[in-house]
Amino acid sequence: MTATLTILGLESSCDDTAAAVVRVTSGSAQILSSVVEGQTNLHAAFGGVVPEIAARAHAEKLDLCVKEALLRAKARLEEVDAVAVTAGPGLIGGVISGVMCAKGLAASHDLPLIGVNHLAGHALTPRLTSGLAYPYLMLLVSGGHCQFLLVEDAVNFTRLGGTIDDAPGEAFDKAARLLGLPQPGGPSIERTAMEGSPERFFLPRPLLDRVGCDLSFSGLKTAVLRQRDKIIEEKSGLSRQDRADLCAGFQAAVSDVLAEKTRNALNAGYHMAGQNLPLCVAGGVASNATIRARLEIVAKETGVEFHAPPLALCTDNAAMIAYAGAELFMAGHKDDMALSARPRWPLDRQSPALLGSGKKGAKA
Ligand code: KG4
Ligand code: ZN
Repeated sequence: MTATLTILGLESSCDDTAAAVVRVTSGSAQILSSVVEGQTNLHAAFGGVVPEIAARAHAEKLDLCVKEALLRAKARLEEVDAVAVTAGPGLIGGVISGVMCAKGLAASHDLPLIGVNHLAGHALTPRLTSGLAYPYLMLLVSGGHCQFLLVEDAVNFTRLGGTIDDAPGEAFDKAARLLGLPQPGGPSIERTAMEGSPERFFLPRPLLDRVGCDLSFSGLKTAVLRQRDKIIEEKSGLSRQDRADLCAGFQAAVSDVLAEKTRNALNAGYHMAGQNLPLCVAGGVASNATIRARLEIVAKETGVEFHAPPLALCTDNAAMIAYAGAELFMAGHKDDMALSARPRWPLDRQSPALLGSGKKGAKA
């Protein structure tokens, strides 16, 4: 095993084209560069991510992002030890673009290729940012995913529970659309909620009375729709304050559900691992300040450490893919030109198949 590993990472599973260079030296990681090219403007007119447009944009931008990431890292491709790429789950056209680009780079420079599960990238982020030791509890909350994971190493993940319908990011995006706010919905709702009162509209807290740590968010979005229509019927339109109050009420409901289910998950994790587990959160929704603060309180009350990545590493990025690739590489894992793109790729190999599809394609 090399003492110092330099990994180039590629990410293109949804609507961010990203490349990054991460260096791992005796277990400690350093992000040498992280380039993220978002596609928000390309999808703005459609109210959501259009898979075909996303795939085309990834294919156009990937090599430029790689070039920029190497330039910022002051590294040449020849100095890289391996190429890591998101091989799923996600929108298949985008994932294929990334895998093909990585294969080209690996083949032309005779470099090892490592296919990384996008969810593992998010789940291993606390190790990249703070060198957190295994095991820990991860709440992964993004646009396409929502699950509590007991993380034991780079390949062993046990799903303790998760959403039975929408992911919270998906709910934020849908609620924003209902209120005429721009996409992505999470940041729009968070911004709008700052001027609102969470008490004016009390929205449901689905599954809160149920034991365990499964969650549900689709009813919440329907409740926003009903409240919106009621206001429009009464006042023939939504005022700025109505919107802000609805956003604050929605954000409070999501926070309450996540906080309560996290208590249950910490308890389940304790029984499974036989020890108190540090609580970590990752994924786009983890950049929400209200949610972070609520989870921090839960961790404090339970007496466990709390880890939330810096905002730029909550949403999709390639540094997390490069880091996860480094861990896999150090564990002796390698792929070859047969690496395929997977729309669905559950982290927990025992987890049952989920039906339906979300923002990032088939649900994992
Ligand atoms: O992890 P991510 O970049 O992509 C996926 O893997 O899905 O997460 C994107 C999701 C979007 O649904 C977006 O609305 C949500 O994360 N998000 C937020 C915030 N920032 C992004 N949700 C709530 N509050 C935020 N500040
Ligand atoms: Zn993600």
